[in-house]
Amino acid sequence: MKRILLVFGTRPEAVKMCPLVLELRRRGTVQPVVCVTGQHRQLLRDALAAFQVEADYDLALMEQAQSLDGLTAACLTALGPVLEREAPDLVLVHGDTTTTLAAALAAFYRHIPVGHVEAGLRTGDLSAPFPEEFDRRAVDMLSRYAFAPTEEARANLLAEGFDGSRIWVTGNTGIDALAYTLRKDYHSPALDFLAEGVPVVLTLHRRESLGQPMQEVLAAVRSLAADMPELRVLCPVHPNPQVREAVYAALGGQENIRLTEPMDVTAFHNLLARARLILTDSGGVQEEAAALGVPALVLRGKTERPEGIKAGGLLLAGTDRETVYARCRRLLEDEAAWQAMRDRPNPFGDGHASARIADVLENL
Ligand code: UD1
Ligand code: UDP
Repeated sequence: MKRILLVFGTRPEAVKMCPLVLELRRRGTVQPVVCVTGQHRQLLRDALAAFQVEADYDLALMEQAQSLDGLTAACLTALGPVLEREAPDLVLVHGDTTTTLAAALAAFYRHIPVGHVEAGLRTGDLSAPFPEEFDRRAVDMLSRYAFAPTEEARANLLAEGFDGSRIWVTGNTGIDALAYTLRKDYHSPALDFLAEGVPVVLTLHRRESLGQPMQEVLAAVRSLAADMPELRVLCPVHPNPQVREAVYAALGGQENIRLTEPMDVTAFHNLLARARLILTDSGGVQEEAAALGVPALVLRGKTERPEGIKAGGLLLAGTDRETVYARCRRLLEDEAAWQAMRDRPNPFGDGHASARIADVLENL
């Protein structure tokens, strides 16, 4: 039986790879082996637990305030013995993280074919998101098989010369994940807090936003919450120490803003589903917002998910304080503007991406 080594290491990769792991395990037609690098620790552990996926290998690499080069080197070194021991027929990686890059490179060095899930996303700017735009381009360059979530992603790959016969448009497996997490009868204290007023969910963590751009966004949110006391802003804070420091300094102590530890994905998806507005610089949250039909402002200058902007459910807001404030305020006060963004078509997938990828893997 074909052996497929799935390597991932962060929360977003786990949320998007676990549905595929479960699909492959359910079918039993190929042998999936799961190796997590542990680029993330508690975030990864929580995401795996939500899907009840246990890893066959945990390289436990995370360090506080880890550097890109240090982590890349650690991943490469630690993955070598796993690849030697498992000798898989294929290595599957996801997205654009340091783990993704290192795992693809380690496999490439051993002439093991690489399959890239969520291939072909591009902003066209190596500095945004940094370093993810490089990671995804480099991984696509050395991948044999590309699982593109959308037609746009496929077009990006074709434009770079990727062989079209080895690209499959599957939808994003992140949309599959929602089937495991959403509950109609969901209750929690965080949801009670949101339900006291107009519910807004905020997430921030991008490296290129650290410093001035993040300060501007945080100042906009702080003013908004002060000027609109009916808002209830919930922000699960990313554990990156630089993010935590900035978020707690700017938003701490305001009554209608609640800062929490990162949430497990079941809790988080159920809160997103009930939000009036989502504010985020995340990649995955953009897709989830579109799938849930909840208007979202993308707190970045560029997005690799332009399909969501075109479909109308996402709005690129940048990071300028006044612009972010004005766009949020309009969506919160102008019912017609909000209605125009809600329940727009979801271009990111229909919830069956894992099955399509599994079909391909069975027949390679
Ligand atoms: C990485 C990914 C990014 C993804 C993000 C998701 C790269 C290059 N970037 O961001 O694409 O959007 O993860 O969150 O791989 N930390 C903890 N516990 C955890 C996780 C992180 O304490 O469970 C802290 C650690 O101090 C760690 C720091 O956060 O050093 C940053 O984590 P890291 O994975 O390096 O984050 P990014 O590279 O910013
Ligand atoms: N997420 C979560 N708990 C949180 C915040 C986010 O489970 O407190 C999930 C979110 O639903 C999405 C994923 O984490 O599935 C996105 O991760 P992140 O924003 O860290 O990374 P990105 O998608 O930007 O790479």
